[in-house]
Amino acid sequence: MDEMKPQTPQVLLHPDQRVGANMARWRKSGGGDAISIAAGNPDRVREQVRLAELRGLGGSGFPAWRKWEAVAAEKPNPDKYVVVNGNEDEPGTFKDRLLLEETPHQVIEGAVVTALAVGANRVVFYVNPDLSRSLAAMRIALEQWKTSDLTAQASTALGKPLDLLLCPGSGHYIGGEETAAMEWIEGRFPFPRGKPPYPAQSGIKGCPTLINNVETLAYVSHIAKHGADWFRALGKAPGLGTKLYSLSGDVLYPGVFELPKGTSLRELVYTHGGGLLSGKPLKAVFTGGPSSTLLTPADLDVALDFDSLRARGSSLGTGAMIVISEGTGIVKRVAEYERFFAHSSCGQCNSCKTGTATMSQLLDRIDTGRGTESDLSILKNLCAMLPNSGRCHLVNGAAMLLDSAFRHFHDEFVQAVARAPARFGGASRG
Ligand SMILES: Cc1cc2nc3c(=O)[nH]c(=O)nc-3n(C[C@H](O)[C@H](O)[C@H](O)COP(=O)(O)O)c2cc1C
Ligand code: SF4
Repeated sequence: MDEMKPQTPQVLLHPDQRVGANMARWRKSGGGDAISIAAGNPDRVREQVRLAELRGLGGSGFPAWRKWEAVAAEKPNPDKYVVVNGNEDEPGTFKDRLLLEETPHQVIEGAVVTALAVGANRVVFYVNPDLSRSLAAMRIALEQWKTSDLTAQASTALGKPLDLLLCPGSGHYIGGEETAAMEWIEGRFPFPRGKPPYPAQSGIKGCPTLINNVETLAYVSHIAKHGADWFRALGKAPGLGTKLYSLSGDVLYPGVFELPKGTSLRELVYTHGGGLLSGKPLKAVFTGGPSSTLLTPADLDVALDFDSLRARGSSLGTGAMIVISEGTGIVKRVAEYERFFAHSSCGQCNSCKTGTATMSQLLDRIDTGRGTESDLSILKNLCAMLPNSGRCHLVNGAAMLLDSAFRHFHDEFVQAVARAPARFGGASRG
């Protein structure tokens, strides 16, 4: 008999939201009602977002209200922007594309409520250009909004026309970094900018700009409608609210699951993901995708929320969980991910350009039986030297991943080097 799955709250993935670009159907079930709430009392929306402790779900977990307050405090210069970050290009993360494709009106409503709350008159929906279905749904939905009473109502409240723009991204992973996104939206290659100035003061065309992830903003209309207490109560303490987890790798049922924030890793993998393929034991989980840290079977009961994972030296990131079963080599997997970082580095910072390339080369060497002990010490030094050495966090992610793999699976790296024939400088096999 199938094990009963626990009932889980559905907010973002509620059937009322999953109507694609069908605006009439969406409005019949209350879609759009948050616009008049935000138009009437934008300060209250900001307050509720603060009390809900909504965190940024694009990887950092930064409290949303702090950026919101900073942007709300700025005067338009001459405009103010909200950017909806849908670049989503990290391996293992595939939640935002689902929201854009199946719930485009929910995403737009969240962004417009946010624009009203911070006084922004321009909203840019910045979407990975490879997500053709997400782009198509957003294109149709935005056309409907342009002639809708909802946009007219928001424009009246703002005192100037609300501009809604769809901007396909560059197709580069680095284009998801917030200042790189702004460069691309302004028409240049997405090189991350140095900070300060921060986007809240000087973002797109020098105007105050708020940038949030698609999932972060999708929660906003619900918080505006139902309040912070309702949102908080959806979580499993200490987690607040719900979260979309992208589950992939060696599980029976990969997919996107909306669960109470704070659900355990065990419940996600074994109850919702159906357990591991062929009933194999769990070896590790890359949390937050590759630019984060590893969890092991000892962490199965950890709550998947920002603070519980941070307390274990890990992080929730985007909520991507890539599951690895026993029998999979960690060195090979880490080498693949480091190759991704090396290819994705924009090359502006020497430490990142050469650091990620060196890590990738050495790991490939070790993985193919040509590594040496000195390669291992170089890699360890790089893990210590690279964090915070670049303009953006790409280089931090690359170092954090390897450092975590060393911490949990050091033996596999040592064995890979010991396997190397003596002519490559590895330990003699006797
Ligand atoms: C290399 C790199 C890629 C990123 N890609 C994305 C992305 O695809 N989507 C996203 O929302 N945030 C991405 N971020 C994080 C953004 O810089 C920014 O923190 C985020 O959009 C803020 O939204 P949030 O506070 O709602 O998470 C990336 C960061 C880095 C360093
Ligand atoms: S840290 Fe790397 S990806 Fe980020 S700006 Fe510097 S070179 Fe580019």
